Amino acid sequence: MESPLTAEPYRIKMVEPLHLTTLAERRRCISEAGYNPFLLESRSVYIDLLTDSGTGSMSDSQWAAMMEGDESYAGSRSFQRLRQAVADVMGFSFVIPAHQGRAAENILFLTLLKEGDLVPSNYHFDTTRAHVWNRRAVPVDLVSAEAHDPELEMPFKGDVDLARLDDLLREKGPGKVPLVMVTLTCNGTGGHPVSMANLKGLRDITLKYGVPLVMDACRFAENAYFIKTREPGYQDKPVAGIVREMMDQVDGCTMSAKKDALANIGGFLALRDPEIVQRAQAWAVLYEGFPTYGGMAGRDMEAVARGLREVLDFSYLADRVGQVQYLHSQLVKAGVPVVKPSGGHAVYVDAGAFLPHLPRAAFPAWALSVELYLEAGVRGVEIGSVMAGRDPRTGENMEPRLEMVRLAIPRRTYTYRHMDVVARAFLDLLARRERVKGYRFEYEPPVLRHFTARLSPM
Ligand code: F0G
Repeated sequence: MESPLTAEPYRIKMVEPLHLTTLAERRRCISEAGYNPFLLESRSVYIDLLTDSGTGSMSDSQWAAMMEGDESYAGSRSFQRLRQAVADVMGFSFVIPAHQGRAAENILFLTLLKEGDLVPSNYHFDTTRAHVWNRRAVPVDLVSAEAHDPELEMPFKGDVDLARLDDLLREKGPGKVPLVMVTLTCNGTGGHPVSMANLKGLRDITLKYGVPLVMDACRFAENAYFIKTREPGYQDKPVAGIVREMMDQVDGCTMSAKKDALANIGGFLALRDPEIVQRAQAWAVLYEGFPTYGGMAGRDMEAVARGLREVLDFSYLADRVGQVQYLHSQLVKAGVPVVKPSGGHAVYVDAGAFLPHLPRAAFPAWALSVELYLEAGVRGVEIGSVMAGRDPRTGENMEPRLEMVRLAIPRRTYTYRHMDVVARAFLDLLARRERVKGYRFEYEPPVLRHFTARLSPM
C-alpha cells in the first residue's frame, strides 16, 4: 500500500472568493429565508455542505476537454468519447446520456416498470423512490438491519439483506419484480458502502430468478475505495480493477455524473442488453434528446468522460474520503453524536441525540441545521421529519428512523481548514444546545415540503 498522504494531491490554480458574514447578517438572511436553508442565497453561505452533487471542482484536464466539445446534434465525437470512457471504466457497451441521474432513472423505469410492480434495493435515494412511485410501482428497502443503528461500527452497512431479497423474489416472482436495484454508496442511510461479497450474492440471487440487477452508481469510485481498504483480498487490486469487478455483477447502471464523474452536470443510463437499450432509447428521445447527446452539451460529455477516468486515481480517492473521515473524527472527538462509521461523501450528525430536549414534532434536525448556519455560516441539510413529509393516506407526519443533519462535502473544493471551522461550530453549538428552540411551519407545501417551506422558531 502507498505511504499515507500528507496533503491534497493537487494544487489550486483558480479561486472563488467566499463572503464572510456577521451573526447579524446571518440572522437577517435566515429569517428572510423563512428559516429554510434551501432558500438562502449562496452568497450568504460561507461553507456550503448542502450537497456533494455538481458542486465539486473540475480538473485542468476536464476544463481543457470542454474546449473540444462537439456540439453536433447527431453522432458527435464527444458522445463517442463518453461511450468509450463508460466502456473502458465500467464495461458497459451501451450508453444513453441524460441530463442528470434522476433523468436516467426516469428512462429506466419508463422502460421496465408497470403499475403494481415492486422494486427492491438496499435503500432507494429520494429521486429513485419518487420515480418508482411515479410509475405506480412500489419501492422496497432491504438494507441490512444494522444500517439503522447509528452507533454500530461495521465496514459495509450499505449491504442488502440477501435473505429478505430471496424471500421476496420467491414469493412474488419475476413477474412482479422486473428489476432489483442497489445504491452505491448508500446515501439514504449514511453514505455507507456495499461489499463485493454482497454484490456477488445479489448477482447469484437475481440470476436464479432471472431478474436484471441495476446499480445506482453515483458514488461507485468511493465504494471501490472502501472495498480496497476494508474488504479482505482487495488491498492489492487497483481501483480500476475493483470497479470492473463491481460492474461485472450488474446488468446496467444509472449514473449521476454530478458525483463520481467529477462534473457539474450530466448523467447516463448504461446497459448490456441491446433489446432493453432499444426500448429505453425511444423514451430517451422523448424526455431527454437525441441518443448521442440526451440532455447534455457536447462539452459536458467531454468533462464527464475525463472525470470517469480521473476518479479512479487512488490518491484522489484517499484524499477525498480521507477529508470526510477527518471531519467525522473531529466531530467524534468533540463529543458530537454522528452516524458511524464515516460515509464516503458526507458526515451524518444524529440531531435527535444532539438536541434530546426537542420532540420530533419540533423538528430537531431542522433546528440544528438552522443553528449551524447561524453559528458559522455553514449550510448542511436536514434528513429528518421535515424532509420525510406526511403519509398521503393519513395526513400524519411520517417518522423517519433518525433525525439527521447531513454534511456533504463537495469534491476537491474545501480544505481541511474549512473542516476545522465546521467542527468548531459544532463544539460551540454543543455548549449552548439546551437553548436551541424547535420550529413550526408557517407555510407547508403539499409535496416535497422541505424545499420551499417557511418556518418560524417556537
Ligand atoms: N442516486 C443517488 C444515490 C443520489 O445521491 C442522487 C442525488 C441521485 C440518484 C439523483 O441524481 O441529482 O443527478 O438527479 N443526490 C444528491 C444529493 C441530490 O444531495 O445527495 P441527480
